[in-house]
Amino acid sequence: MSMGQAKQKVEFGDFQTPSRLAREVCRLLVHTGLSPSSILEPTCGKGAFLDASLHAFPNATTVRGLDRNPTYVQVSQEIVANHPNARVECGDFFKVPWDRVLSNLPDPLLVIGNPPWVTNAAVGSLGGANLPQKINMDGLRGIDALTGRSNFDISEWMLRESMRWLEGRVGAMAVLCKTTVARKILYFSWSRRTQIESAAIYRINAFQEFGASVDACLLVVRLNPGSRTTDCDVYETLHSTTPSSRFGMREGRLVADPKAYDRLAFLYRDGLVGWRSGVKHDSSRVFVFSQKQGILINGLGERVSIEADVVFPLLKSSDVVHGRKPRKFVLIPHRSMEESPLDLERRAPLAWQYLLSHSDILDKRGSSIYKKRPPFSIFGIGPYSLTAWKVAISGLYKELKFSKVGPCDGQPIVLDDTCYLFPCDSEAECDVLYELVTSSLATEFWSSLIFWDSKRPITAKLLNVLDLAALAKTLDRWTPVARRLAERQMSRYSNQAHQMMLFQESLG
Ligand SMILES: C[S@@+](CC[C@H](N)C(=O)[O-])C[C@H]1O[C@@H](n2cnc3c(N)ncnc32)[C@H](O)[C@@H]1O
Repeated sequence: MSMGQAKQKVEFGDFQTPSRLAREVCRLLVHTGLSPSSILEPTCGKGAFLDASLHAFPNATTVRGLDRNPTYVQVSQEIVANHPNARVECGDFFKVPWDRVLSNLPDPLLVIGNPPWVTNAAVGSLGGANLPQKINMDGLRGIDALTGRSNFDISEWMLRESMRWLEGRVGAMAVLCKTTVARKILYFSWSRRTQIESAAIYRINAFQEFGASVDACLLVVRLNPGSRTTDCDVYETLHSTTPSSRFGMREGRLVADPKAYDRLAFLYRDGLVGWRSGVKHDSSRVFVFSQKQGILINGLGERVSIEADVVFPLLKSSDVVHGRKPRKFVLIPHRSMEESPLDLERRAPLAWQYLLSHSDILDKRGSSIYKKRPPFSIFGIGPYSLTAWKVAISGLYKELKFSKVGPCDGQPIVLDDTCYLFPCDSEAECDVLYELVTSSLATEFWSSLIFWDSKRPITAKLLNVLDLAALAKTLDRWTPVARRLAERQMSRYSNQAHQMMLFQESLG
């Protein structure tokens, strides 16, 4: 495959469904009792699903396929050639007058297929134009664009459209997509009060089928005016007959285990803070040091001699998860977002000279959050970063594993931005907080909200919705220390906006 072809394949999310898989999917749909009068495949490619649907649903009176690739359209046209009710046309999903197409498709309507698995960012970086005109799907704010939350799958946009087509109609949508996309589509439709009769996800092995290392599934949604369910059954394979789990929407929230959530919803509270992201600096080469025989060595292998009061022991995610002591140190040029690193010139001249001599590296730090800050700035820093005690958890690992973090040689330990932390004023506070967050009630509560197959299941947003006061009272641990911790969940630091930028979180 030439470079140009490979690029085009990515831009158009062009991973054709194997015929066997398309047939298995249609067989499953028949087993579940689906019997559509019309079938629409809006990105039909080489027609694997058209072919399988024509065999599985011989009673369908109208079958339509569309793709923007003329070569594929030709292949699909040959596949449907002997079916007078079927037609395939060349067209761009983003430009087709869908109302007209849909008005000719009788109920029950089945929208089927495998829309392109590619993100708007990937299309953009290829210089491609395979994007809807209006890409700001949820009216995302500028801050989300900065943190990557506005990145979305083209398939997600297409599937939202497909669900809109089905609103108020009798029909179904059956599509292969990333599991995270499937959840977002359901959340979107449940939030719109779409009249969904049932929803199911059947996991597929995307690596085996498409060579893609991603959690993927067949999403089947049935619609019927008058119905309104907000639960989705999850099956481990296309052949599973009983669901392994169920997720859903409760009080406008996507929950991984609705049954557990219904029991523990009293622990949920919006608007709490307390859990914060660790320090973000984006240059380990300059900011992070190892120590050899008492001498600091930076990531460039240089010996570094700077004031001791700007250097702190550092823990990364892997250290937190494995309960290790700090093996590295980090330069903290300012202790809050109100302080400026420029003060270092007076406060710690050696550190200032050190940073100045590496400004070529630091000025190139990629993230746009540095652009509006003085040179050498870091993020995720505040009084909470330098408390002697804290409870920490890794945001990289898929485990609810908390650690007590105390001082190291009399110095507070700093956590990096792959970790979350809750600051404590004393060891006693740290002990109480640790006991609370590792209680089985807390674990059950968070587990009811966590989708473990998402990229970063543990986020500050998730940690912060657990109301420590409600938890402590239920566990009969409502002591003065617990009260202080609960109060800390409500106190905002002035640099809250900067913290928000660090939480690269999504629904997924
Ligand atoms: C993942 S492939 C799946 C093809 C087919 N549905 C299947 O299951 O084998 C995605 C298809 O979407 C088509 N496609 C991508 N962008 C499109 C657009 N804007 N309009 C119509 N088709 C598009 C590609 O040409 C490709 O055939």
